[in-house]
Amino acid sequence: MASKPVVLSGIQPTGTLHIGNYFGAVKNYVALQDQYECFYSIVDYHAITVEHDPQELRRNTIAMAMDLLACGLDPKKCVLFVQSQVPEHTELAWILSAVTSYGDLQRMTQFKEKGEMQEFVSCGLFTYPVLQAADILIYKASKVPVGEDQLQHIELARRIARRFNSRFGEMFPEPEALLTEAPRVMSPADPTRKMSKSLGPKHYIALTEPEKSIREKIKTAVTDVGPRPEGEKSPGVANLFLLLKLTAPREIYEQFEADYAKGTLKYEPLKRTVAEYLIKTLEPIRARRAQLNESEVREILHEGATRARAVARKTLEEARERIGVGKLIA
Ligand code: TYM
Repeated sequence: MASKPVVLSGIQPTGTLHIGNYFGAVKNYVALQDQYECFYSIVDYHAITVEHDPQELRRNTIAMAMDLLACGLDPKKCVLFVQSQVPEHTELAWILSAVTSYGDLQRMTQFKEKGEMQEFVSCGLFTYPVLQAADILIYKASKVPVGEDQLQHIELARRIARRFNSRFGEMFPEPEALLTEAPRVMSPADPTRKMSKSLGPKHYIALTEPEKSIREKIKTAVTDVGPRPEGEKSPGVANLFLLLKLTAPREIYEQFEADYAKGTLKYEPLKRTVAEYLIKTLEPIRARRAQLNESEVREILHEGATRARAVARKTLEEARERIGVGKLIA
């Protein structure tokens, strides 16, 4: 039997999943589990590239696993693990750094953006995309579900794979990004910027956010930002329509689109409906999250790391051999 294509994705343990992560990536993680061999990693070694609190990182790593399981990741169908528990990733990252162009890393927009927010810019933040490439390539993954902000990093992973293959012989497939229909969910408070935790609480809606707070954030979501070209929705209105499309029955979405086209759309009912359906969509996730038991989750992660390591170890051995640092004695 031909083996299934491999999928890998990673997510930083930032405390809580928001609806941007969910609609932009995690929904795809869940959908892909049935068809592919999937590896999903909570990338704690990426999270230390900016200032962090060790206690918080420890807590957030488990919280992220709980959120992902609540979203529908099933340990029987996928391998869920914490990156630092599979140290082969970091060793492969070092090897790959030797085939990564310094100039390419300098062009990474996420490095520039994150670097600007830091007082101390670490070398780890600069080489972050090399570790990301190792996360993917160590499982020889060909598909990587991500949001739009990660496309540049995936493109770099392809370049790294290509350069390794051309120097040391064909070994890694060139990974391809998989986007959802919502590759870029915007902040309700500033819809010209992508939804993100680092902008502050007004700028994201957590999956486990209380209903009242979801209603409030949608109610106060920015809709108009100056004049727009004829027929083009403002970013805030487009973002509300996107959320409606993702959560509401099609007829309801189409009714609001028709109102918009006729020029009779009122923001108040649009926002009320978006909040209603968003809450409804998140409800089962919240309910599953409340059922999860932390010690079982730790077991799942332990088992996941054991399974991931078995694969990672083989690839690392192969890469070491290829570059000439393999075993000294047979
Ligand atoms: P991270 O942890 O920032 O985000 C996790 C996933 O959520 C997506 N995402 C969004 N999608 C749509 N709209 C948004 N507003 C939004 N915000 C976040 C991200 O694109 C991502 O898919 N570098 C990665 C983590 C990583 C990784 C990997 C990803 C490490 N190794 C290997 C793929 C493969 C990151 O920081 O994602």
